[in-house]
Amino acid sequence: MDVFDVIKGRRSVRRFKPDPIEESDLEKILDAGRNAPSAGNCQPLELIVVRNEKIKRQLVKSALGQSFLAEAPVVVVVCANVSRTSNRYGKRGAELYCIQDTAAAIQNMLLAAYALGYGTCWVGAFDEEAVAKSIKAPEGIRPVGIIPIGRPAEKPKAPPRISLNEIVHENTF
Ligand SMILES: Cc1cc2nc3c(=O)[nH]c(=O)nc-3n(C[C@H](O)[C@H](O)[C@H](O)COP(=O)(O)O)c2cc1C
Repeated sequence: MDVFDVIKGRRSVRRFKPDPIEESDLEKILDAGRNAPSAGNCQPLELIVVRNEKIKRQLVKSALGQSFLAEAPVVVVVCANVSRTSNRYGKRGAELYCIQDTAAAIQNMLLAAYALGYGTCWVGAFDEEAVAKSIKAPEGIRPVGIIPIGRPAEKPKAPPRISLNEIVHENTF
């Protein structure tokens, strides 16, 4: 699939078939995250692959009851290892770069998953402390996103986007 087809075709999927994910596919998806750019190549990314049903249920609870999370055979909790970036870039590294880096990794993973025929949804609405507790995240490991991955059981329509001419500015705002 052409990169532009992948970018345009990907949708947030919130219904999943129970079919397992091929291990080789999962590795490709995680590796797409690993290959994302990061500030100063500090690579703050940490990926927790959750298949355990009890932990999945805890994640649902921590994510405002978004039960579709637990429908997916695999749920990846994407974390920022903050000090990897803040050691070099201080406050800006801790507050901005490591979040941007993990966001870039998440998008790479969503696109890779779609290209391989899987559905995903970027889940950001959750109680960070509760998620950190469920995955036993040590101090300084900040959960920034949760991605359920599975074969899609729905084909959502593209939601509207603001037109390019409303957001593109020439030279100055
Ligand atoms: C930072 C971020 C947080 C999000 N959090 C949630 C979430 O908690 N639950 C959810 O169902 N979708 C969540 N989404 C998905 C958006 O709702 C979705 O991307 C948007 O509606 C556009 O739809 P599309 O992904 O199909 O293009 C989130 C997306 C982003 C980028």
